[in-house]
Amino acid sequence: MIVLGIETSCDETAAAVIRSDENGGGEILADVVLSQIEAHRPFGGIVPEVAARAHLEFADHVVKQAMDQAGLSFDQLDAVAATGGPGLIGGVIVGVMTAKAIAAAHDIPFVAVNHLEGHALTARLTNNVAFPYLLLLVSGGHSQLLIVHGVGDYTRLGTTIDDAVGEAFDKSAKMLGLGYPGGPPIEAAARQGDAKRFALPRPLRGKPGCHFSFSGLKAAVKRTIDALPPGALLDQDVFDMAASFQAAVGDVIGERTGRAITEFRKQCPGANTLVVAGGVAANTALRTKLEDVAGAEGMVLAAPPLNLCTDNGAMIAWAGIERLKLGQQDTLDFAPRPRWPLDPDAPKATGAGVKA
Ligand code: KG4
Ligand code: ZN
Repeated sequence: MIVLGIETSCDETAAAVIRSDENGGGEILADVVLSQIEAHRPFGGIVPEVAARAHLEFADHVVKQAMDQAGLSFDQLDAVAATGGPGLIGGVIVGVMTAKAIAAAHDIPFVAVNHLEGHALTARLTNNVAFPYLLLLVSGGHSQLLIVHGVGDYTRLGTTIDDAVGEAFDKSAKMLGLGYPGGPPIEAAARQGDAKRFALPRPLRGKPGCHFSFSGLKAAVKRTIDALPPGALLDQDVFDMAASFQAAVGDVIGERTGRAITEFRKQCPGANTLVVAGGVAANTALRTKLEDVAGAEGMVLAAPPLNLCTDNGAMIAWAGIERLKLGQQDTLDFAPRPRWPLDPDAPKATGAGVKA
């Protein structure tokens, strides 16, 4: 089965082609990611209207580039998948309409993929992970701990009660003058910093459950910066703050994931894989922390390569293949979904600024 995947839910216009094999695996025949970062950089964050217009301008080119890279014509595709949500709705509409047009013109199935499921299933493509597994999904819009029982079958153990962890990276980076997106420059700055210099809080650490909270950490970064001598921040201040922030995030995520492992073990005895996914999973310090946490519990960490952690079309093509194999596809009247939880039955998280 050869499937084209299109991703347009945030600030990357992406398309990829995957061919599935008989052993349950897949080969990436093409993978094209066009980042819009330069278009958003002047605003210090993603502007939805700018994103939607850029997707509209470039989606066709990116799809063509992916097809050329794969050396295939549209007639050779077995199906086309696109992110159907959750995400910035203008961009999602562009991707969904592009995929529907290809499906209609070439009379092939269309699959609307949940973007979060794309992240969630990537480790099955890259690391051949079997169900069930524990998933830590950490991106610009989400911070969740989920049990992945199967395709479309999730139990959410924890979510953020306020900001997502990627958002905390991005906002802290902005305060430190490190630009957007904030994850990579914070990681780089942290390498030269002293993580013990600034005492930052570890929100919710030791509290029952597996929820996250990052807004207090963000506020503490601001307070600490404001307390420094007036004037421009010194390089060393930026390095130390980045290191202190990253250490706090690592501690919180490590502790929350440890609790989730205990719950996972109860619900799925015998299973022992922890998967980390989403853009923040590209953070090497966090991966090392998670390896330690998993190892201490007798679990194995599976992490997709960095380029498949941040948004891409391959994860959408792959999730499409997984659903098609189960006989699932969508009709051309599918309506894009700005919100689309993986576990719709999860109890609502309570907290100051609940978004999830
Ligand atoms: O999954 P993703 O590409 O898009 C969403 O679906 O949100 O995640 C983007 C997020 C951004 O907040 C970015 O700052 C963060 O992932 N990120 C990182 C790193 N690389 C990207 N955070 C920490 N360390 C990194 N190396
Ligand atoms: Zn994402």
